[in-house]
Amino acid sequence: MGGAVPVITVDGPSGAGKGTIAHLLADKLGWHLLDSGALYRVTGQACLIEGVDWDDHAGVAEVARRLDVTFTPAPSGEILVAYRGEDVSAAIRTEEGGRGASTVAAIPAVREALLERQRELRRPPGLVADGRDMGTVVFADAPLKFFLTASARERAQRRYKQLIAKGESVSLPRLLQDIEERDARDASRDVSPLVPAEDAIVIDSTATPIAEVLRQVWDTVKEKGLI
Ligand code: DC
Repeated sequence: MGGAVPVITVDGPSGAGKGTIAHLLADKLGWHLLDSGALYRVTGQACLIEGVDWDDHAGVAEVARRLDVTFTPAPSGEILVAYRGEDVSAAIRTEEGGRGASTVAAIPAVREALLERQRELRRPPGLVADGRDMGTVVFADAPLKFFLTASARERAQRRYKQLIAKGESVSLPRLLQDIEERDARDASRDVSPLVPAEDAIVIDSTATPIAEVLRQVWDTVKEKGLI
């Protein structure tokens, strides 16, 4: 598995800023980036496209095993996600996309099917891996692990602002309820529940601007001698 290739894991609940931090960190280091949540989101979306019910565990696992997904960087810096050549970038980022991802991610055979696909991305010069179980399961031997968190209320407010900026009409109490339900589902499942790795550095960003979080992360990367 290329043990010499360094991995930095960034785990945490949705809306804690891990996507932003992982992206900025990978850019700054010139390393590869794994957005593992996108794999679960595409699996949920692929089920909708293929007419497979999210509760049909064997069917969903089969979809995950055969998942024909591509990630293409766009000039804007965004990553375009396609399933069987069809652009699903916007569809997987909706609230329904998040619910689907969280539902299919609780199926052990789905996690098993996506495991090797994630490990294959560990390539030189290094990998920044964003998810829920990057530091506990997928890259348990990573030399540096972060766990980013923030209060559910703060995460709901961040999501609310993002959606309003996109022109979507949303309700803040409904978003908070969704986030709390998703947290509970992600943290209570039997396989790879959302918990910090024992050796993870936990950063609470509730009252900390993202630029300050990045500074803390970057200082640690330097202290660890990873650059
Ligand atoms: O990071 P995200 O919000 O895009 O993830 C969407 C869902 O996928 C999340 O609710 C839980 C699941 N997930 C997971 O179980 N394991 C991962 N490594 C990444 C995401």
